[in-house]
Amino acid sequence: MSKRLVKDLDDLRAQLDELQIDIPMDGDVSVFARSVAIGNKRTPNALAVHPMEGADGETDGSPSQLTFRRYKRFAAGGSGLLWTEAIAVVPEGRANPRQLYLHEENKDRFRRLVAETKQAARYHCGHEPLLIAQLTHSGRYSKPAGHPAPIIAYHNSYLDKASKLDEVEYKLVDDGYLDELVDKFRLAAALALEAGFDGVDIKCCHGYLFSELLSAYSRAGKYGGEYAGRTRLLRKVVQQIHADHGDDLLVGVRLNLYDGLPKPQGWGATSEGEIDFSEPRQLIAELVQDGVDLFNATAGNPYYKPHINRPYTSGGYHPPEERLVGIQRLLHLSAKMQEAAGDIPVVGVGFSYLRAAAAKVAAAQVQNGSVQMAGFGRLSFANPNFANEILHQGQLDPKKVCTACSGCTTLMRAGQTTGCVIRDAYYRDLYRQTMSGGK
Ligand SMILES: Cc1cc2nc3c(=O)[nH]c(=O)nc-3n(C[C@H](O)[C@H](O)[C@H](O)COP(=O)(O)O)c2cc1C
Repeated sequence: MSKRLVKDLDDLRAQLDELQIDIPMDGDVSVFARSVAIGNKRTPNALAVHPMEGADGETDGSPSQLTFRRYKRFAAGGSGLLWTEAIAVVPEGRANPRQLYLHEENKDRFRRLVAETKQAARYHCGHEPLLIAQLTHSGRYSKPAGHPAPIIAYHNSYLDKASKLDEVEYKLVDDGYLDELVDKFRLAAALALEAGFDGVDIKCCHGYLFSELLSAYSRAGKYGGEYAGRTRLLRKVVQQIHADHGDDLLVGVRLNLYDGLPKPQGWGATSEGEIDFSEPRQLIAELVQDGVDLFNATAGNPYYKPHINRPYTSGGYHPPEERLVGIQRLLHLSAKMQEAAGDIPVVGVGFSYLRAAAAKVAAAQVQNGSVQMAGFGRLSFANPNFANEILHQGQLDPKKVCTACSGCTTLMRAGQTTGCVIRDAYYRDLYRQTMSGGK
């Protein structure tokens, strides 16, 4: 598959022509100046930072100086919505020993993070972004002490093999554990509200526990089997949090729209592994009824077939498809989600790989109503100021864009804190040290 990078809009157009892929890309970036209504709140613009884990929390789950640095840079960068990285609600569900974890004892530290983030935005941009806390249980990918300690919903032959379940100690959760999780998420949502977040996200993507349940066809009991069982936990948590806080707290869901694995071991897929949007469409409509105020589109599993989740160029992994085919899939799924969600805003995904051409492609998606907001993940690490550039200069500086090199993921997988290893000197040095074995 071609590793050709996207140089600019003309080059993107030429590549798409060659591949016979149609992606609208001549959007007017002034569309991003538009404020978006989310529940009873409004964003200052239609640009968002996607959840990007920095793996830089303290041992007790509190944000560290590096976490403060990251969110203050995002805030100063002008985005209208900051969707935080995954924040664990129970210690055993942390994806790494540095994953953020919100609990009664450290809520004041989170309160400070929210206050200083909003203050940075007011100071630099004269507005306040909305802040959504992504609440998670890492399930199969839990690693709270630095070594895998999987907590699985059911046996999945693809993922069990990839997670080497025959070599590590793991736990298959019973219904009692899942019942209790409802209250753990409710508590975390209440703490997030106290800390000043505008909303919470019940993370249901990328193969983590809630996401895994969506394909738990073979699981017995009330949280598996038929559609109603597989979606029960997510809907229960959403309904409860909405009932607890009403209009005081926005409820969001970052939802996998397609796992990239065949049914019955993948969600949103046919038994041949192609996209089948019928169940995601039904779930999105039901979640709207349950009180969801905003959605965030995503797909795939970063630990298995990562090209579906975030097309990238380097590393030893060779995707079985052209990267632009993956981008088209993410844009298509985002639009399907917005169609199913009606008036409820969807934050679209799939732009960082497009480098400087990302601004106009994202603008076209918002302009034609495919999504209400455009979110950027890896670009926010590379250039936290991307929203200001788009809003005030009308374009992205090609020298500051994400190169889709995957260095940020490599650092994280190596057990380090993470950020952009190309554009951010702190992480460039850390990457060099890590790759040279600390020498
Ligand atoms: C280092 C890294 C950390 C990430 N952390 C999270 C996370 O905490 N929660 C989440 O939902 N997605 C996470 N993602 C996925 C991104 O939010 C996003 O979906 C993905 O990078 C594709 O968007 P992009 O092309 O704009 O980067 C992460 C991705 C990377 C590379």
